[in-house]
Parts: sequence; C-alpha cells; structure tokens
Amino acid sequence: MTGTKRVKLKPGDTIGILGGGQLGRMLAMAAARLGLRCQVFSPDPDSPAFDVVLNATCAEYADVEALELFANDVDVITYEFENVPAAAALVLDARRPVLPNRKILETTQDRLAEKDFVTRLGIGTAAYADVTSVASLREAIVRIGLPAVLKTRRFGYDGKGQAIIREGDDIAKVWTSLETKAAILEAFVPFEREISVIAARSAEGQVECFDVTENEHRDHILKVSRAPAAIPDALAEEARNVAGKIADALDYVGVLAVEMFVLANGTGPKVLVNEIAPRVHNSGHWTLDGASVSQFEQHIRAIAGWPLGKPVRHGEVVTMTNLIGEEINRYQEWLTVPGATIHIYGKGTPRPGRKMGHITEVLPARDK
Ligand SMILES: Nc1ncnc2c1ncn2[C@@H]1O[C@H](COP(=O)(O)OP(=O)(O)O)[C@@H](O)[C@H]1O
Ligand SMILES: [Mg+2]
Repeated sequence: MTGTKRVKLKPGDTIGILGGGQLGRMLAMAAARLGLRCQVFSPDPDSPAFDVVLNATCAEYADVEALELFANDVDVITYEFENVPAAAALVLDARRPVLPNRKILETTQDRLAEKDFVTRLGIGTAAYADVTSVASLREAIVRIGLPAVLKTRRFGYDGKGQAIIREGDDIAKVWTSLETKAAILEAFVPFEREISVIAARSAEGQVECFDVTENEHRDHILKVSRAPAAIPDALAEEARNVAGKIADALDYVGVLAVEMFVLANGTGPKVLVNEIAPRVHNSGHWTLDGASVSQFEQHIRAIAGWPLGKPVRHGEVVTMTNLIGEEINRYQEWLTVPGATIHIYGKGTPRPGRKMGHITEVLPARDK
C-alpha cells in the first residue's frame, strides 16, 4: 500500500470520510467524542452525515479537483461504503493515507475475488462458480446443484442483484433478469443461523473482535441483531479466528465485518464465510449502547493510529432492531420503552426498504 506513513492523529485533526450515509454520520459522531473533526465527501446533497459535520464536500467521486481539495483539507481518509471507485481512491491515496488501504476495495468489491481470497486462506465458503453467460450458468448448475443463488459480482446489497434458482426454474429467464455478464453462482447454504463478527485491527496488528452477533433478515434486509450469538463458545472462537485471519491477511487497518453462515451439527465445517464488508456494519450497531467501545469508535481509533479499546459488553444480551421505511414514523412509541435507545438517521422520505434508524436494547445481567 502507498499510505505506509504511520498515521498518528491528535485531537483537533481532521478525518475525511467518503460517503454520507448513516454509517458516515455515526463515524463522525464517534470521532467528535474523541475530539477529532470530520469532513464528509458525498455526491448526495441530502446526505445524513452532512448534518453532523462542519465541513462537507458535495461532489461526484469522478470530480478530481474536488477530491484533491478534499484531500488537502484532511489528515487521513476513510470510507463508509465498499464501492468507492478505484480511480477516486487512487487520486486520494496520492495525497493522504487512505485507510483501510485501497487494495482491499479490489477484493471486497467483487464477490468472485472475495471468495477466491477467502478460499486461499483455507476458510470455507459455499461452493461457487464464475458465471458469464447462460451456457456457463448451466455448467455451473451441473457442478453445484440446486437450489443455488445467482449473484452479480459487483454492487449487490440488501439482497439486490441476487436470484435463487430452484429445480424447474427457467434458467435463461433468471440469467436475463440479472442484467449482467459477471456473476457467481453459489450453492444454497441450509444454514442454521447467520452470524457476523465485527473486528477491528490497528496499524500495529492488534485485533479486537466484538462478541459474535446473530442476525435475522427480513426481505433480505437486516432486521434484528442479537449479541452474543446463541452458539457454543468454541464456535464463537472459531468465528472470531476467521475474522482475525482475514483482517491480518488484508493488512487491514480499521473495522471490518465478516458475515458467516452457521451450519447445523454434523454437516461439515461449522462456519462458512458469506461476505466481507470493509467498513463498519449494520450488525455492529448494538455496540453503540451495548459495549464500552462502539464499532465506530474502534474504527476511528484504528485509522487515527490510537490503541484499540478492549470492548466489554454491557448486560447479558443486547439487541438491535432496524427501523425500516415507514417504521420510523412510529419513533414516538419507542421514546418511552424502558431500556430502549433510539437512533434516528435524519434521512428524508421513508421509502420501503430504506434504513431510517435503529433501536438498541440492553438486557441487564441477572444477579448471580
Ligand atoms: N449461498 C447462500 N445460501 C443461503 N442463503 C444465502 C446465500 N447467499 C445469500 N443468502 C441470503 O441472502 C442474504 C444476502 O446475501 P449477501 O450475499 O449477504 O448479499 P448482500 O448482503 O450484499 O445483499 C444473506 O444474508 C442470506 O440470508
Ligand atoms: Mg450480506
């Protein structure tokens, strides 16, 4: 990586954040608490992160001049989404350290490159195949079997750019519906549950993982996260080790999330990696109120060159519930729920499927 100069920020210094969504907003809020300033770069004038910073750059990621001016204003640059265009990262990296390093984007922007990378580390994934045409899709189905999940290699999120293929489906029709020439076919994993590990890694190589989180999706969108996941300690240890191994192999600096499937007992390897998100992650929002250090603070500390915190969970169980679309309109009802903490992202119109806020609830530890 080019940004090898060690970053060591001090209070009053400025972090540049690419992306202005709720993740950028919560990163900036965590930075503020540590006395660090943030400048947000986003093409969307309605970015919720703009509301919490003094300085913002509203420009396209292809606007080289805007990128250069932004870089000049900040001491280190990070991002809240993995689809930062490679060209933008290159322009910025020539001027300021970009953390996590931009090479990581190449691996995590492409589901095929990501799965190849995980496989090279000796970590299990669903069986997968590169698919470029309806002919290669048919071949992949013969090899992998059905049901299977066809996914675009790039730009998928919240289940978008995906189709499940079942026995008897019209393969040509499914292929056309995805409107891509670059896809992967994955075996459908009959998982017992889905978990994620939020790991932080410092420039010195210190790794700190939060408690393993269990995730429930509704309509392909994360609905509820619960920490700790209801899995045996040995499995939780394995999951954390997998995340640590991935972070080390990427020479990662910052917070990353690894989504995994847990298989039922007696069905081969116990955890399979589904996805890596090179950023703070929705399934880590419980740490805002449920741990001594949040995922956002860990990320800021890592990219500032500060020691990571040793996160301790508050309470026995912590849950996080997303407020999606119109659910945000009932925020008043949450204000008086005992133990509930509400986070409203300040986004405009609540469209279906849009993440508008979340609730955390901490169940206190029972007296022994
Ligand atoms: N191979 C698979 N087998 C079973 N379920 C899957 C598989 N791939 C994805 N899913 C389901 O779809 C969800 C979204 O898929 P994912 O690959 O994480 O894409 P994204 O989160 O980018 O939309 C997963 O959390 C899981 O519930
Ligand atoms: Mg996912």
